[in-house]
Amino acid sequence: MASFNLAIRRVVPSLAKLTYNPLFKVFLNAGDWPAKALFPRLRRLPPNHLRVRVGVSNKLFTNQVSYLAERWGLWLAMALDGLWDLDSTIVEIGCGCGRAAHILRDFRFYDRRFRGHYYGIDIDDEALEWCREHFDAVRFTFMKSSHASQTYGKDANASPRYTIDLPDDSADLIFSSSLFSHLLEAEMQNYFEESRRILKPGRSMFMSVFCMDYPPPTMGDRHTFRHRVGNAYVESLRVPEAAVAYEADFLHALARDTGFADSKMIHSAGAWQPYLICQK
Ligand SMILES: C[S@@+](CC[C@H](N)C(=O)[O-])C[C@H]1O[C@@H](n2cnc3c(N)ncnc32)[C@H](O)[C@@H]1O
Repeated sequence: MASFNLAIRRVVPSLAKLTYNPLFKVFLNAGDWPAKALFPRLRRLPPNHLRVRVGVSNKLFTNQVSYLAERWGLWLAMALDGLWDLDSTIVEIGCGCGRAAHILRDFRFYDRRFRGHYYGIDIDDEALEWCREHFDAVRFTFMKSSHASQTYGKDANASPRYTIDLPDDSADLIFSSSLFSHLLEAEMQNYFEESRRILKPGRSMFMSVFCMDYPPPTMGDRHTFRHRVGNAYVESLRVPEAAVAYEADFLHALARDTGFADSKMIHSAGAWQPYLICQK
């Protein structure tokens, strides 16, 4: 199975892009059926083509458990750093089909539940629609960004200037996982500016990035980042947003220029992407 998955990845620069193909969707969702038939809890997961679209490594048909578990560590780390609590206003950019949000939705320890508000932003209509149908509207809002992407969907009215529909100084935490790794400079700058605007003073933006200073373990094999588009290093000129990396100096300068008071990066050996943390 692993070599089959790897072979597919070599032929197409972006597996995510392939998940918009109706035949590939049927193929992926048919392969998800046995697990969902055996384990009723898995029927609450988004369809497999949406899970594969947001990235499940090479686990095309065996991603159910990792999908459910994957973002717990991120929530826990951000809570331990005091970046959010159960009453926070939280914004996730590039929320996909809710891989992080479902943890917030389902968390319950005695009478403790998430009572704040989560806003998910994405450009993918299908993922946003699925989320709107599967999350309660009292605590969860899903919003469409005006950005376009060769990988995740184009829109005739697309614009790299998107204003997040939230007031200045209103969010406790803004985060993303594997979003900046798909953004070219104009869209990235727009999210830095918007995040800075809507964060409350002293609060943080917590974003994973591909960074040339901390290359992923796949560097030299699956990843090369051999092309340049402005300050971005991209894997494919045909589908530039498939994988995008930046230098750490550029990211820190962008944080400074867009008005953040402080920025730092956390990384550990073997990790795919470091996290850039910018404080307002
Ligand atoms: C690799 S997926 C990760 C999704 C989610 N963060 C997760 O971990 O499951 C990248 C997501 O970013 C979204 N995306 C890509 N470009 C975007 C943009 N400019 N603005 C908002 N979302 C974007 C894609 O539609 C996709 O859902």
